[in-house]
Amino acid sequence: MAEAKATVRTMDSSYHKLLDEDTRPVPESYRRDSPIEPGPTRITIDRYTSQEFFDQEVEKVWKRVWQVACHEDDLPGVGDYVPYDIAGMSFLVVRTGENEIKAYYNACLHRGRKLRENRGKAATELRCPFHAWTWNIDGSLRQVPCQWDYPGLEPEKESLPEVKVGRWGRFVFINPDPDCEPLEDFLGDLPSHFELLPYERRYKEAHVAKVIRCNWKVASEAFMESYHVIATHPQILLGGAHDVDTKYDVFGNYSRAIRCGALESQGLPEWDPLPADGKRRVRHPLNGWVYEATDDGLVRVTTPKGQTGLFTPNAEPVEGELGDVNPHLCDWVGGLQLPQSDFEKAMAERAAKDDRKNQTHPRVAYAQMQREVLRSVVPSVADKIADIEFSSVFFTLFPNFHPWGSFNRIVYRFRPNGRKVDECIMECMYLAPIPEDGEYTPASKIHWLGVDDDWTDAPELGMLAKVFNQDVRNLPYVQEGLHAMLLDEWIERP
Ligand code: FES
Ligand SMILES: [Fe+2]
Repeated sequence: MAEAKATVRTMDSSYHKLLDEDTRPVPESYRRDSPIEPGPTRITIDRYTSQEFFDQEVEKVWKRVWQVACHEDDLPGVGDYVPYDIAGMSFLVVRTGENEIKAYYNACLHRGRKLRENRGKAATELRCPFHAWTWNIDGSLRQVPCQWDYPGLEPEKESLPEVKVGRWGRFVFINPDPDCEPLEDFLGDLPSHFELLPYERRYKEAHVAKVIRCNWKVASEAFMESYHVIATHPQILLGGAHDVDTKYDVFGNYSRAIRCGALESQGLPEWDPLPADGKRRVRHPLNGWVYEATDDGLVRVTTPKGQTGLFTPNAEPVEGELGDVNPHLCDWVGGLQLPQSDFEKAMAERAAKDDRKNQTHPRVAYAQMQREVLRSVVPSVADKIADIEFSSVFFTLFPNFHPWGSFNRIVYRFRPNGRKVDECIMECMYLAPIPEDGEYTPASKIHWLGVDDDWTDAPELGMLAKVFNQDVRNLPYVQEGLHAMLLDEWIERP
């Protein structure tokens, strides 16, 4: 084993050097640096644990911010509608015309019943299930049964109250604040990062949702940084990413993270090569311990000095000298394994064929493999995409929307589960390119997982399901740990 190299890295300079070496023209947006210097800061624990703070978020954030309510694939036809529930509020998003979408408070003006609790299609009216007050889908009042009992009622004044709607890239945003800025101003120059393959040319291929027992910001923040990869997804570092060094930039209401990947790590120890079997045998990059699935569903862990132990996929010791191992790697090799997705198969086929990988930098070769896979779907753009855009590029649009960069399909949304400070809803969508010459079928509904379900119960996520298991395993324990910190001595720390 070689000594770890102690190097102070300035990602900005190494990043810009990479852009100069790119094999394709780099979009100008990728050359922009953060106008402010990101850096660590201290915040108080109550932001994640206090109902009072949560209630302030409802008033100051959720009632006043542009937020993604749904995707246009959720309401393809006139009269299609989808409820959007957020922090105890509910809105009903309705396609009212071929190119018109409106959003109403999801409440009947009579006694306040929610107008719709589930999504629906091709409605010509919105009739309340309680006493049948009925509105046209454009929000105007159509009918009040026994209207003679409401002598003062002026139907033209009883339209459903609307909230503002904005659209970007087939995502439908709403903002309950009638005085809000236009969505375009709120987004700033975020769209300039998606010019080659804009979201207008994507469809919703998969949509999986799950309640997680943590504050919505605990979950959201776990998906806007790469620092956790080294501990939570060690297999990724040894599987091609090689480094967690990431460039973070903040521009107005959004942030951008770029982990270039396939760079030679300057911060990790170097280990002798392990015979490749990334799903059944991996090595932890920091301590070199090898995790290997056994035929009887357990995990054998072996240290570089030869100590061993046998564990369940949940990291509980069964036998042997070792008694304390990494739970993420036990689940990775020992938990349920999914078959490869179509994308993973295509990448594996390219990897098997690709003779360039030995002749050029792995980062460039990896980008080229992805271009080849994309070429069969969007041939007009595949060759133009810069190497840098095939890195791990992920954005956070305040407060809770996380589209990955360029061609990447992943989009996350995190939101509170009702008014519960300790629970949130995590959603993962795949926004795949609309094939230039073929048919495609958008996901017809959200696949809800139970709070204790494994992400591998959503095989449409492919290998990412296993990665989510690792991420999400941490989150309830972060929430519990934050509550455990609620001692005066912690609160009073500077
Ligand atoms: S509550 Fe809707 S009609 Fe009465
Ligand atoms: Fe992660």
